[in-house]
Amino acid sequence: MWGGRFSASPAEIMEEINASIGFDKRLAPQDIAASKAHAAMLAETGIIEKADAAAIIEGLDKVGAEIAEGKFAFSRALEDVHMNVESRLKELIGTPAGRLHTARSRNDQVATDFKLYVRDRIDALSAALAMLQLAMVRKAEEHAATVMPGFTHLQPAQPVTFGHHMLAYVEMLGRDRGRLADARARLNECPLGAAALAGTSFPINRHLTAETLGFSKPTDNSLDSVSDRDFILETLAAASICAVHLSRFAEEIVLWSTPQFGFIKLSDKFTTGSSIMPQKRNPDAAELTRAKVGRIAGAFQSLLMVMKGLPLAYSKDMQEDKEVAFDALDSLTLAIAATTGMVDDMQPQPATLLAAAGSGYSTATDLADWLVRVLKMPFRDAHHVTGRIVAAAEAQNLPLDKLPLADMQAVEPRITADVLTVLSPEQSVESRVSHGGTAPQNVVKMAAGWRKRLESDQPKG
Ligand code: ARG
Repeated sequence: MWGGRFSASPAEIMEEINASIGFDKRLAPQDIAASKAHAAMLAETGIIEKADAAAIIEGLDKVGAEIAEGKFAFSRALEDVHMNVESRLKELIGTPAGRLHTARSRNDQVATDFKLYVRDRIDALSAALAMLQLAMVRKAEEHAATVMPGFTHLQPAQPVTFGHHMLAYVEMLGRDRGRLADARARLNECPLGAAALAGTSFPINRHLTAETLGFSKPTDNSLDSVSDRDFILETLAAASICAVHLSRFAEEIVLWSTPQFGFIKLSDKFTTGSSIMPQKRNPDAAELTRAKVGRIAGAFQSLLMVMKGLPLAYSKDMQEDKEVAFDALDSLTLAIAATTGMVDDMQPQPATLLAAAGSGYSTATDLADWLVRVLKMPFRDAHHVTGRIVAAAEAQNLPLDKLPLADMQAVEPRITADVLTVLSPEQSVESRVSHGGTAPQNVVKMAAGWRKRLESDQPKG
């Protein structure tokens, strides 16, 4: 492609470190779409002949078909996807192929291709996250009133409902989708026509190519257009946060499915056995989902470090953006799908959950609240009295709602039998009707709201 200036071929190791075709061939559909838009614009503006543009577009479609059918012979000597596509175009249509690269460079080309690619992946991720949210909403609806322990410090804290716990993740994933949507909106400006770094003297129409490729507008600074990769960084940051959410949930699945917790059962579809221990049911899908965040957040760090200190404009360093981004986006896609599968598959165990919810004096706060509400005690005093009652119950190895009233009255004589209306885990969750609280009626309402939003506002995918 640059034979005019060069007389010798690159060293073998030069070719090896330089070539990106091994991974950037994934960008072929975007490369072809962008080249078609560019060729059409060059004809529209009279920069090339209409007949040449038609031949180029037809030829590019053929190249695209060859690639889609796996019939394309990618060449490492041609470095990257852009040169592979253009070289094949030359073989297919001859001279007009050479006019395609007028008023553009691989620098604006690769930025455009990658933006198109990342945009598609964002849409697909958002759609997959919506499916996961919907699966969680279904579980929340089924288990709106299933009582389970809520934890802080992984110590029993207060009873909550299983549905409420599911909807906590639905909220997180909703924000993840919001972050992806923000990244999408910011990336959606077209770099094509920035050329190598300075723009071009040809009378191109950048608004036309931007519009053809579904961008909201052309980018406004040619140097910036070819030299930043913040659109990938931002997407990887959003992906990392999302992966952290999935990893926390995965950890809960791992814990919940142990015999010690017994909160959920996973079927054979989402567990594996051991080659030596016949009793085992290992939650491998959850463990791998928990682990994927390492690669995803690692990709974000990796590209941050690549970009740090790079002077404007394009440097080949930026070719390192692709492998990590591909791996991160693939990993997140897989983790979302696996999590959706596990949510559908998991069977919460209401009896175990309820028993666990009642253990650890988890309704002590309800007792303290009763003392405040009925006896008008200051909360700090109520906290102290309740602490003494819990100690008395612990001494007899009894849960709070089984401790004889007389023992409570020994600590605080004004306590009446009415206190028994607040001490069970079921009563506890039912009372938590404050906005955002865990009460079953809240969960039902919130789940219905989410269902409506998810079913009506399906993002493009
Ligand atoms: N394969 C290159 C990349 O991914 C394309 C841009 C090459 N530009 C250049 N001036 N060598 O970054």
